[in-house]
Amino acid sequence: MNAEDPIGIFDSGIGGLTVAHAINKILPYEKIVYFGDTQHLPYGNKSINKITQYSIKIVDFLLKQKCKAIIIACNSASAVAYQEIVKNKVPIFDVIKPVIHYISSQKHIQHIGVIGTNATISSGVYKDYIHAVRKDVKVSSLATPLLASLIEEDDRKLYQKGIIEAYLENNKLKNIDSLILGCTHYPLIETQINEFYNKKVEIISAIKYIGHSVKKVLEKNNLLNQKNSKHKHHFYVSDYTTNFQKKTKLFFPKSIILEQENIFS
Ligand code: DGL
Repeated sequence: MNAEDPIGIFDSGIGGLTVAHAINKILPYEKIVYFGDTQHLPYGNKSINKITQYSIKIVDFLLKQKCKAIIIACNSASAVAYQEIVKNKVPIFDVIKPVIHYISSQKHIQHIGVIGTNATISSGVYKDYIHAVRKDVKVSSLATPLLASLIEEDDRKLYQKGIIEAYLENNKLKNIDSLILGCTHYPLIETQINEFYNKKVEIISAIKYIGHSVKKVLEKNNLLNQKNSKHKHHFYVSDYTTNFQKKTKLFFPKSIILEQENIFS
């Protein structure tokens, strides 16, 4: 493992691009190798077995690309497959722990909402982790299974608005003071969520904290790239779609490499 080796990041689709973008902002010298499993999305409606199986294959692929660290940029995979992935010999990051770390020090947070996929919410991971550090916080969780696919497939704000509002009006989320975006796709609709709450509810998402967590661990392990080598980020998808290409360009406007790679056969 070398400091110049890339960081591997994966998700079911475009959600992890929000994480990749955050990493690139804080660690601009790092080369990113991204895998979007567009062939199998949404992960959130799949069984624990399937999500774990797909995640293991992707991690094996990223390790073959010589990744020095791997970020599971997917809450569903972080919630159900972390224990399997963490067995590997490179630093592994999930998108849940940085959020828990933030909440642990924020005494003003008293009633927190969590929205995420079926896999994430039914795992109970956010509730368990929050209560391990802050027993006094009320946690109200709501599965919002339509959102990831909606964000992945459709940019039309008008359609998104009705569905987002229908979810956020749910009684479970009444009187929350903060809301965890428990899916890496959701930062793409943060504006609409903020509009719904009139900015009166604090929106918490891993992309605000993950860069610092990764930087700290890389530094500690002498794996931080100190050289501004002129690398191109490399993006792989299991199914090439114009939508993924469009979204990648939005987050990474400079030239990148994007190609389909069949790792599942
Ligand atoms: N972006 C992922 C997550 O954070 C997966 C969404 C999905 O594919 O269902 O859970």
